[in-house]
Amino acid sequence: MRELHGRNALLTGGSGGIGAHIARALARAGANVVVSGRREEALASVASELREMGVRAEAVPGDLHERAHLEALVERSESALGPLDVLVNNAGVELAAAFTRYTREELTSMIDVNLTAPLLLTHSVLPGMLARGRGHVVFVASVAGKLGPAYAGPYAATKAGLIAITQSLRAQYVHAPVGFSVICPGFVAGEGMYQRMVEQGMSSNRVMGTTKIEKVADRAIDSIRRDRPEVIESGTPLRPVLALGQLSPRLIERVMPRIGLTDLFRRVAASRGRAS
Ligand SMILES: NC(=O)c1ccc[n+]([C@@H]2O[C@H](COP(=O)([O-])OP(=O)(O)OC[C@H]3O[C@@H](n4cnc5c(N)ncnc54)[C@H](OP(=O)(O)O)[C@@H]3O)[C@@H](O)[C@H]2O)c1
Repeated sequence: MRELHGRNALLTGGSGGIGAHIARALARAGANVVVSGRREEALASVASELREMGVRAEAVPGDLHERAHLEALVERSESALGPLDVLVNNAGVELAAAFTRYTREELTSMIDVNLTAPLLLTHSVLPGMLARGRGHVVFVASVAGKLGPAYAGPYAATKAGLIAITQSLRAQYVHAPVGFSVICPGFVAGEGMYQRMVEQGMSSNRVMGTTKIEKVADRAIDSIRRDRPEVIESGTPLRPVLALGQLSPRLIERVMPRIGLTDLFRRVAASRGRAS
């Protein structure tokens, strides 16, 4: 969808972090935006900032764990703005721990927010987009979904699921006027979940790299405009390593501890007393 001016977008996880930056980038492109999330004040403040940028914007608060909220979210967004042209499934949660130290509730909760909610929201918006002959759905996954770091298994599994659903939807709707993109950020500096790790003294290194939050937001908009299948935005040239990993999975197993990835997530898990 090359032209975003006047289009209507629903963005989950719009109350802060990467989502608030994607919301601003959508508004800069002239799109009207519904932002959703649980923190009502933060959401209201993002929505009012977007209105000051000259677009229509609404905050629709709610918890993505709740099926009733998921069912109402698209309806409430469409009554606020009109039919949706863009859905950005950005909300996500990450919890590092040794696999056996997750509670069963944490495992299913992460799947609910990171994977089930995007599937259900996409299931709700897609028929309308197909009928109107226009639409784009963005899934915000992670590099973790490409390589499965230690101490981040459930999170990585949900993100791998988003990569797979994007591939499948693109394959199925290849001739339809609706597009699908998956964004796989690496460590994103500025705000958000990685920045909170940094503030607790745990950071990436030169090999793993970092990228900037504004860059991730801009690439999300570009993915809509150019119907990009998959964007990897990590600040380092990762694709060759990932390609080698496809040819030789053992190679990735050996690379992850050497570049410090295993240790970083082990330290995050240890900071929560969950590394062993
Ligand atoms: N930051 C990174 O380095 C990085 C790297 C790779 C991928 N990502 C992905 O990028 C996306 C955004 O990450 P971020 O760093 O911006 O994270 P963040 O700062 O923790 O923000 C997460 C967003 O998701 C919303 N959210 C979480 N649980 C929710 C729930 N149960 N119901 C409704 N909304 C919920 C939060 O809103 P409320 O708190 O208001 O509910 C918030 O707006 C995530 O999908 C994440 O996995 C981030």
